[in-house]
Amino acid sequence: METVELGWDKFWAELFRVKHRRSIPGIEHYDEMVVDFCLETLNLKEGDAILDIACGAGDHSVLFAKNGLEVTGFDLSQTLIDAATQHAQEANVDINFYRGDMREINFVQRFKGAVLLSHSFGFFNHEENKLVLEGSYNALIEGGRLLLDLMNPYNLPKFQKSWTELDGGYLLSEPHFLDAPAGVLRGRPATYIDAEASRIVLANQDALANNNIRMYTALEICALISEVGFEKTELFGQNKLPRCQYTAGSDRMVVVATK
Ligand SMILES: C[S@@+](CC[C@H](N)C(=O)[O-])C[C@H]1O[C@@H](n2cnc3c(N)ncnc32)[C@H](O)[C@@H]1O
Repeated sequence: METVELGWDKFWAELFRVKHRRSIPGIEHYDEMVVDFCLETLNLKEGDAILDIACGAGDHSVLFAKNGLEVTGFDLSQTLIDAATQHAQEANVDINFYRGDMREINFVQRFKGAVLLSHSFGFFNHEENKLVLEGSYNALIEGGRLLLDLMNPYNLPKFQKSWTELDGGYLLSEPHFLDAPAGVLRGRPATYIDAEASRIVLANQDALANNNIRMYTALEICALISEVGFEKTELFGQNKLPRCQYTAGSDRMVVVATK
């Protein structure tokens, strides 16, 4: 069998964020619950503008649009922006999707809400992570809110090695591990056995390097949010309704910051 290496956009973005995500049983229902939670905690009504930062394949953006919001979504991956655009067309909703880097958000006072869903915060060094919050702050109108849906650093999922049957092949995911001194959750290589094309697909160095997430504690993230200028921060223990208190054992750490 031939072995090929693919970069971040083709390997991780396409295999994981489009094909793997859409193969998860019940994912549409999960997304609807997340979106309902966002609408309530961000106090969004029909016609309000929302920014979906690192929107991936646009699954949440499309649901926001179906709820009558004016949606802008961007992501670093062109593969995902193409998938998101196609998804919006199929759902018959109008969304402004574009390719962009979350460290360079340059909207000024434009949105009532902004979201970073599925732990899409903490990919960079501390200063660059702060840039993401500063850009988000500037993009919001006065009183606007930012929602970060994060893993709970005190109750990380039990990552396990897993095989998933996917699109004519098999995806082997190695568990992430927590580099405790660095406070970083490190991604591990994954392998795709492409049975149809009779080849083994590996992630190249670029794909592997893009796999780490800084795990901020509640105290650290609240301090950072306040440094950026937000007036108020609330924490919740799950990303669905009803709102519940954040504790060490919570499934998620959801941060809602008000400008
Ligand atoms: C965990 S996925 C979440 C995607 C989507 N929000 C969801 O919930 O399905 C993280 C996303 O961040 C995007 N991303 C990574 N680095 C980025 C950057 N510098 N700027 C914008 N997006 C980035 C990835 O392409 C990926 O779509």
